[in-house]
Amino acid sequence: MPSAITAAAAQIRQARRLIRASAVLFGLAGLAGLSLGAVAFAARAVTPAPSAERGAALFAAHCASCHASRLGAAPNIGPNLFRVVGRRSGSEPDYRYSASLKTGSLIWTATTLDLYLADPKEKAPAGRMPHPGLKLDSERADVIAYLETLR
Ligand code: HEC
Repeated sequence: MPSAITAAAAQIRQARRLIRASAVLFGLAGLAGLSLGAVAFAARAVTPAPSAERGAALFAAHCASCHASRLGAAPNIGPNLFRVVGRRSGSEPDYRYSASLKTGSLIWTATTLDLYLADPKEKAPAGRMPHPGLKLDSERADVIAYLETLR
């Protein structure tokens, strides 16, 4: 595992500890509203911003075996993801999509990509992407930050 990912995981663990600690403190004081504010503050203070660099490493580990990411590259098991952000789902001309994606009913944005990548089977039930998805919000944010650089 690249050390950036290990570092991010350590930061997340640290954030969880902080959140637990502040929840206990403020819970005892009975200041429910304040404790929520403190938890939100603690989470914001230590949650790393999305990083295209970490996303590139995640893409190499999880996606590159099936997806090309360069202009004009031939489709692999999955379609080329160059300029995927902003384009219609299922719209790479030289790729045969499943019926689920072929409809093109969706524009790939940070939001729709986040939903799809969290659980590709749920979002596209007849879809053919044989990947379980990325369960961590921060991993999806990093991969999407990377996809946004592919233009
Ligand atoms: C084992 C192969 C495989 C892996 C690994 C994989 N994909 Fe896919 N992906 C596919 C296939 C196949 C499709 C086409 C699905 C369909 O037609 O329903 C697809 C479709 C997509 C699409 C829709 C593209 C379009 O043109 O509409 C996106 C976005 C996508 N994958 C992103 C990812 C990301 C990001 C990862 C890594 C987290 C990933 N995929 C990992 C095989 C894979």
